Amino acid sequence: MSRLVIVSNRTPSTGPAAGGLAVALRKTLAERDGFWFGWSGKLSEQPPREARFEEVDGLTVGKIDLTRQDHHAYYAGFSNSILWPAFHLRLDLTTFDGQWYEGYRRVNTRFAEALRPHLKPDDVIWVHDYHLIPLAAELRRLGARNRIGFYLHIPFPVADTLFAIPHHLELMRDLSHYDLVGMQAQRDIVAFNEFADHQAPLSLSGDPLKAVDFSKTIVEAFPIGSDPDAFARLAVSPAANKMVRRMQRAMDEQRLILGVDRLDYSKGLPQRVEAYEKLLANNPQLRRGVHLLQIAPPSRDTIKEYQHHSDQLDAMCGHVMGRFAEPDWQPLTYVKRAYGQPSLAGLYRMARIGLVTPLRDGMNLVAHEYVGSQNPEDPGVLVLSRFAGAAEIFEDALQVNPFDTDETAEAMRMGLSMPLEERRARWEGLMRAARTHSVDNWAARFLDRLGAMAGRARQRNAS
Ligand code: G6P
Repeated sequence: MSRLVIVSNRTPSTGPAAGGLAVALRKTLAERDGFWFGWSGKLSEQPPREARFEEVDGLTVGKIDLTRQDHHAYYAGFSNSILWPAFHLRLDLTTFDGQWYEGYRRVNTRFAEALRPHLKPDDVIWVHDYHLIPLAAELRRLGARNRIGFYLHIPFPVADTLFAIPHHLELMRDLSHYDLVGMQAQRDIVAFNEFADHQAPLSLSGDPLKAVDFSKTIVEAFPIGSDPDAFARLAVSPAANKMVRRMQRAMDEQRLILGVDRLDYSKGLPQRVEAYEKLLANNPQLRRGVHLLQIAPPSRDTIKEYQHHSDQLDAMCGHVMGRFAEPDWQPLTYVKRAYGQPSLAGLYRMARIGLVTPLRDGMNLVAHEYVGSQNPEDPGVLVLSRFAGAAEIFEDALQVNPFDTDETAEAMRMGLSMPLEERRARWEGLMRAARTHSVDNWAARFLDRLGAMAGRARQRNAS
């Protein structure tokens, strides 16, 4: 079997390499030879050109350092102040700086140059996420003829928004150097086709400057998932029980409404708090009987938009506390800290409502983890945004438009009063869907598809 090379900005040794993703791909890497490649997490004045390799928990990981300047332009700049907001349809939150694109390209070139010497001709390369869109083009420039796949973990933007991104044509041309491009949801494929259709007349008219030729690239939806059965086990583990006991003491008879999100404006946290405020305002009988726990570990906090968002949320939580708290009851707890998976699994299982209401999200794995962690005898209710990729999979959730805070408040009310029988029936449907779309199935489907593309890759290289 060919070796597998996984490339992502973060590696399993540099923090949240997408949690569940690291676990899933670790298994896949353990089954076949290969390595993970990415940024070391280190910034230095004059980083060595060559990558260094280490063993991390039984995985081989190749890493490169970056200069502070390059990293800023590539990560905080082009990736997270342009691509991230625009791909989440938040052009209003983008910041344009002409130098960032050059830094983004420079880092992608650095990745390619450091990776190239370690590649064997038959290696299958799997590149992850928006930080590394140009990587295949850079590798091809250096003569790599391997099968190269790309997976976009975030949504693909509609054409109008894509056209507002500086250098979007170059980026799309970069994408066409991959053999296989995977996206989260059908709606992303629809958006991509909108762009591709727009390109078709250009390629017919033969305008080489504008046309992007996707004829050698397959673009398909591969919805990612979690390992729901592992969460089911984790949710009753001693570490989870410890957290549950602590919470039960604090909660008394109150029912828990739980949100777990990176502190990111795409997650719809201000709208969520507003919806909760409406729930309490419209249903006085619920006060003292419910509690919202919002866990939101800070993220990308050097970026101004993230700081504003964090301040806004602080103010909103303070407002709801001031309006509804009593000396012996607090309506909500807001925690800006990360918790380990066992604690989260215990909390998911306790929560009568899992509140997953992003304004836009590639998939949202919290929805999957919440479903996996439920007690089959007495499951909670998933309140889910229609604009998360997960909405295409979880038809049995209470789906809401997160911008419509009345609708979200009403879904919470319905969830709190939903009879056991309906909760069970819905959860069974959700759990079936979570199992069908497990992260193992996702990785296997993508890699099978990419692995079967050898002929195509040769054809490309011959031309
Ligand atoms: C999203 C992205 C990932 C990213 C993660 C954490 O899930 O799709 O690529 O790693 O957020 O963000 P960070 O900027 O901390 O890597």
